[in-house]
Amino acid sequence: MKIEQNISLKPYHSFGCQVAASYFTRITEAAAIPKCIEWSKANHTPLLFIGGGSNLLFTKKVNALVAKVEISGIKKIEETATQVILSVGAGENWHYFVSYCVQKSWGGIENLSLIPGTVGASPIQNIGAYGVEVQEVIDSVTAYDIKEEKWVELKNKDCAFEYRNSIFKKEKGRYIIAAVNFILQKQPKLRTDYGAIRDALHEKGIKHPNLESMANVIIQIRSSKLPNPKQLGNAGSFFKNPSISKEYFEALKEKFPSIVAYPITDTTYKVAAGWLIESCEWKGIRKGNVGCYDKQALVLVNYGEATGQEIFDFSEEIIQSVYLKFGILLEREVNII
Ligand code: EPU
Repeated sequence: MKIEQNISLKPYHSFGCQVAASYFTRITEAAAIPKCIEWSKANHTPLLFIGGGSNLLFTKKVNALVAKVEISGIKKIEETATQVILSVGAGENWHYFVSYCVQKSWGGIENLSLIPGTVGASPIQNIGAYGVEVQEVIDSVTAYDIKEEKWVELKNKDCAFEYRNSIFKKEKGRYIIAAVNFILQKQPKLRTDYGAIRDALHEKGIKHPNLESMANVIIQIRSSKLPNPKQLGNAGSFFKNPSISKEYFEALKEKFPSIVAYPITDTTYKVAAGWLIESCEWKGIRKGNVGCYDKQALVLVNYGEATGQEIFDFSEEIIQSVYLKFGILLEREVNII
């Protein structure tokens, strides 16, 4: 295990802030995970495992061993007439994995094209987009359980998946993911129900979409709304879409007839945080090096040399103004370190 000291984390997270880690290492095989844990205990140094760094905001120097998971490999472990089960290394790039499956005609994750980050990070916040969540295709997750000091295989139901949440977030720091096992379909049912997908397919004159055309449409929609982190530092949606009660939604609707929300149960509604933020006139606003993206208000961007603290402070201002106007407390989706 090679451990470097005082390393800049700028290349390792998508916000691209200048921030140092006291120690840094790369994990290329599962066996290195318990070794890192031993090192951290022996050296009385906290440990932070990262993947692609696309959902992280570092607000101060990281006095820890930052371990970047780079375990690779896509292995077919079972195949039937209708399905394949794949075991995928946590460090594989998510979009590369999606493209690989689309090319093989294995369906289920095409709507999750172009989401930044790694395969190992996908179950943690149960990534989702365009009507699909990754929990729908996860069979199990192979992880090291720091509490019990042993390797475990968590079946889908053990992962406690919810909207942008899972056991890996709820019991933060307990499980370190080494591989994710996916079940994909050979005769997939395409998910075209999301309005933006229907519109894009119609515009392109595609009446009978396949996996490839679906992936292409998603890539086109995402690229038109979301900034490329290689060009403009960001971490996708900075906030979660909040849930409110039906009564509160109805009261807000009276006052703000154009509010965007949809029912998730008989008694709760999910509100588009992008709409709340835009209604508070943050969309396109820039303060110094930080801004609220002009094409999607849920995304905060680093225009250059912003520090994590500046981005955090900007997000705090947004939270406060949304709370003042709508009485809704936005929660950050991004992990603050
Ligand atoms: N809206 C606005 N103003 C904005 C943005 C959105 O009014 O600036 C309203 C519009 O009415 C729009 C609606 O909000 O129709 C929904 O917007 P969009 O389809 O862009 O989706 P979202 O709810 O803003 C969520 C996910 C995204 C995911 C998209 C597509 C969360 C926190 N975000 O965004 O995920 O790509 O749906 O399914 O759930 C991410 O998690 O990083 C991410 C990008």
